[in-house]
Amino acid sequence: MRTLHAFAALVVALLTVFDVSQAVTLEVREGNSTCIKAELSALFSITYNASSSTRTAVVALPDSATVDPESSSCGSEGSAPWLVAVFGSGHALGLSFSSNGSLYSVTNLTLQYNLSDSTVFPEANSSDVVTVVSASVGIWAPMNSTYLCMSRMTFKLDTADVTFSDMRLQAYMSGDELSPNASACAADQTTTPAPPQTTTSAPVPVPTPAGPPEQGIYNVTNVNNTVCLLAHMGLQLNVTYTDALNKTFQKVVNVNPEQTTSSGSCEANTATLVLTQDQSTTLTFAFTLNSTSNRYRLSTVGLVANWPDLPANFTAVNSSLDYLRSSYGHSYMCNAEQTLNILQIFSINTFKLQVQPFGVTTTQFASAEECQIDQDQMLIPIIVGAALAGLVLIVLIAYLIGRKRSHAGYQTI
Ligand SMILES: *[C@@H]1O[C@H](CO)[C@@H](O)[C@H](O)[C@H]1NC(C)=O
Ligand SMILES: *[C@@H]1O[C@H](CO)[C@@H](O)[C@H](O)[C@H]1NC(C)=O
Ligand SMILES: *[C@@H]1O[C@H](CO)[C@@H](O)[C@H](O)[C@H]1NC(C)=O
Ligand SMILES: *[C@@H]1O[C@H](CO)[C@@H](O)[C@H](O)[C@H]1NC(C)=O
Ligand SMILES: *[C@@H]1O[C@H](CO)[C@@H](O)[C@H](O)[C@H]1NC(C)=O
Ligand SMILES: *[C@@H]1O[C@H](CO)[C@@H](O)[C@H](O)[C@H]1NC(C)=O
Ligand SMILES: *[C@@H]1O[C@H](CO)[C@@H](O)[C@H](O)[C@H]1NC(C)=O
Ligand SMILES: *[C@@H]1O[C@H](CO)[C@@H](O)[C@H](O)[C@H]1NC(C)=O
Ligand SMILES: *[C@@H]1O[C@H](CO)[C@@H](O)[C@H](O)[C@H]1NC(C)=O
Ligand SMILES: *[C@@H]1O[C@H](CO)[C@@H](O)[C@H](O)[C@H]1NC(C)=O
Ligand SMILES: *[C@@H]1O[C@H](CO)[C@@H](O)[C@H](O)[C@H]1NC(C)=O
Ligand SMILES: *[C@@H]1O[C@H](CO)[C@@H](O)[C@H](O)[C@H]1NC(C)=O
Repeated sequence: MRTLHAFAALVVALLTVFDVSQAVTLEVREGNSTCIKAELSALFSITYNASSSTRTAVVALPDSATVDPESSSCGSEGSAPWLVAVFGSGHALGLSFSSNGSLYSVTNLTLQYNLSDSTVFPEANSSDVVTVVSASVGIWAPMNSTYLCMSRMTFKLDTADVTFSDMRLQAYMSGDELSPNASACAADQTTTPAPPQTTTSAPVPVPTPAGPPEQGIYNVTNVNNTVCLLAHMGLQLNVTYTDALNKTFQKVVNVNPEQTTSSGSCEANTATLVLTQDQSTTLTFAFTLNSTSNRYRLSTVGLVANWPDLPANFTAVNSSLDYLRSSYGHSYMCNAEQTLNILQIFSINTFKLQVQPFGVTTTQFASAEECQIDQDQMLIPIIVGAALAGLVLIVLIAYLIGRKRSHAGYQTI
């Protein structure tokens, strides 16, 4: 019973503010005409220094991102066209363009992030606004055509990785809509001419370890080295991805506790647990406490996976989740297998889970609120037991009555 599992997953308050990674539309206008239009999904994986360690924050470009009219422009003599999308608390994504008359290209890709935004960068050492730039991103297309890249592209910008997908983009536009002439990126082009079944022995990745995962014991300590988050859980990641031929694969991977380290942070209303396996898998859980109701929930889960058999690094994050609900000062427990659906392409199966992200005062879990499945499963033995007890009682009564009757019979004789 000791081994009863708890796991508390927490995550940096990270993404609480941001939505699921989804396509965002951005438009730079001058007067009443559009000169740059972009539809894209973007995910940022940012490394920063926290009080005791180096951390990674994963942020999706949210739906609420807007074009900043001050810094964006359609360009003029001596200044390049420039799309700047701002989001959250002082974060921005910038793309600048140039053209030589027949082609246009992205000259600079810029990411600005504000380390004082503690919801995204908990416990950051610095409160700087950091700007990182890459000047060789290789995004280009002929004039009057739309740059199209459905594939995932990752760019390294010093301390940040920027991943785009589902991208449609045009600069130097002559109309208000994206040109129907599309120029596909190299990664998408390898998709189109499907080689005639040269890939017969499809590289079906062997699902690493079969069976349920081992339970890991994870914790997070705060600055003065006291444990502030407890999590015992077995985790199985279920990832759906498509290869260059648009073929869909499913990969189910168990988290191996022996190769996994935990880190994270605890703040008044957010607690984060970051699990890192072999530098190839980073899984982030963020719990949010509602201080009005004194209840918490798992609000964010993010995954960055760099597995050798994946065609590209897999990144997924959803920060509007509502799982593992319990009250402050209590733990949440679910022994039965439970599935946390994060995105359509990513789910987590949990086993023998117990977590306590808030109000941890000892190294033991506080009393648990148990999930419905466990309660239901507990009901079965109770019902069976009650039924058996009832049966025994009936038999016993019948016997006693019978005995009394026959006894009475004797006496009359
Ligand atoms: C652009 O705006 C001006 C006034 O702001 C208007 O007169 C003109 O018709 C508009 N042009 C188009 C193509 O909508
Ligand atoms: C973290 O701090 C170290 C040592 O001060 C420094 O070398 C490194 O560049 C910093 N990393 C980031 C991401 O700021
Ligand atoms: C950075 O974030 C802090 C805290 O959220 C905010 O007060 C500040 O205005 C932000 N800086 C910029 C440049 O937006
Ligand atoms: C400019 O356009 C020509 C095609 O007209 C192309 O070959 C060339 O690579 C482009 N870029 C530069 C920097 O000249
Ligand atoms: C692009 O980046 C380079 C180097 O960081 C910088 O010199 C240049 O001014 C930038 N261009 C634009 C248009 O911002
Ligand atoms: C792009 O389209 C505009 C308007 O249709 C036209 O004036 C221009 O010459 C075109 N440019 C190229 C490079 O085809
Ligand atoms: C250190 O621990 C004490 C007692 O548990 C707590 O009151 C204090 O806030 C902690 N300090 C920090 C920086 O977390
Ligand atoms: C993984 O996810 C897919 C699609 O959501 C589902 O059909 C499949 O049963 C899942 N596998 C496991 C082991 O959970
Ligand atoms: C890949 O599959 C998706 C969904 O099935 C489809 O919408 C898309 O057009 C396909 N792309 C290619 C290049 O075949
Ligand atoms: C917190 O809980 C209260 C009471 O249940 C609820 O009205 C409120 O919307 C919650 N706040 C958030 C941010 O979920
Ligand atoms: C995946 O991420 C790792 C670092 O996390 C990087 O070294 C590698 O180049 C990336 N792979 C791709 C295909 O982007
Ligand atoms: C916290 O984790 C560390 C190592 O991951 C482990 O040595 C320690 O026993 C754990 N503490 C608790 C209270 O689980």
